[in-house]
Amino acid sequence: MSYGLLKGKRGIIFGALDENSIAWKTAERVHEEGGSFVLTNAPIAMRMGTINQLAEKTGATVIPADATSIEDLEKLVSESVAVLGGKIDFVLHSIGMSVNVRKGRSYTDQKYDWTAKGWDVSAGSFHKVMQVLYKQDAMNEWGSIVALSYMAAQRVFPDYNDMADNKAFLESIARSFGYFFGRDKNVRVNTISQSPTPTTAGKGVKGFDGFISYAEKMSPLGNASALDCANYTVSLFSDLTQKVTLQNLFHDGGFSNMGVSDAVMQAFEDQQNA
Ligand SMILES: NC(=O)c1ccc[n+]([C@@H]2O[C@H](COP(=O)([O-])OP(=O)(O)OC[C@H]3O[C@@H](n4cnc5c(N)ncnc54)[C@H](O)[C@@H]3O)[C@@H](O)[C@H]2O)c1
Repeated sequence: MSYGLLKGKRGIIFGALDENSIAWKTAERVHEEGGSFVLTNAPIAMRMGTINQLAEKTGATVIPADATSIEDLEKLVSESVAVLGGKIDFVLHSIGMSVNVRKGRSYTDQKYDWTAKGWDVSAGSFHKVMQVLYKQDAMNEWGSIVALSYMAAQRVFPDYNDMADNKAFLESIARSFGYFFGRDKNVRVNTISQSPTPTTAGKGVKGFDGFISYAEKMSPLGNASALDCANYTVSLFSDLTQKVTLQNLFHDGGFSNMGVSDAVMQAFEDQQNA
């Protein structure tokens, strides 16, 4: 289904690694809605991933950038404006990584240089992206910037480890920078707090299978998929949401407001009666 919601709009999409990536699905949906964009990812991820297939399919240009490098980001933003033929209307920051999670270090036994790397990649990079866009005055008025978060920013999910702190930092950056972007350039900045989703980053979290089944049982609408997230992001890039800013928007089938569901209760009752 296509509504032409992004016809004539230009953007930058970070973080499409493979076809499971939330950014991948978003790129496909943005393309269907008429938007044009540059795809970007860390140079190392490009070697591993299949981003060129996505670029071919969506008519996008690929420009590598490490999102923690100001130099790379400056080049990315100025080249994107040149390639797309004008200022930017939408940006998706779909980037996350914790070295402690990757290497199996628990929250109570972090290696702090890994912790610092994780927050730079997962949260600091969002500030850097916005600062470069802001300084280059590269965003069009009524443009929209979105980053992806997770509810561990507000509630305890032990195996999410230091990514919980990174997401809290990310959401705070969205509010703080969103103020200046709104005041000075009429640009909105939001985070989407997405359901657990089976992607490379998602499946890297210990106990992911249990976690995603639990969330599915708890949520009255079930988990939101990567495609659902892409659709929601399209709505936030469109002109239909121009006054939504500084928000952390839960996109999780209702999970975030649940206490317990019949399905979860039933699972415990079955266990007790077994
Ligand atoms: N999968 C989930 O369960 C889930 C739930 C909520 C939020 N999120 C968030 O969604 C976003 C996208 O993740 P995903 O689930 O699609 O997984 P993914 O692994 O497909 O995407 C993560 C991306 O981050 C990129 N990246 C890592 N370091 C980078 C760097 N230095 N510079 C530029 N890019 C870099 C990776 O190359 C990859 O493309 C992340 O912010 C993640 O935390 C995921």
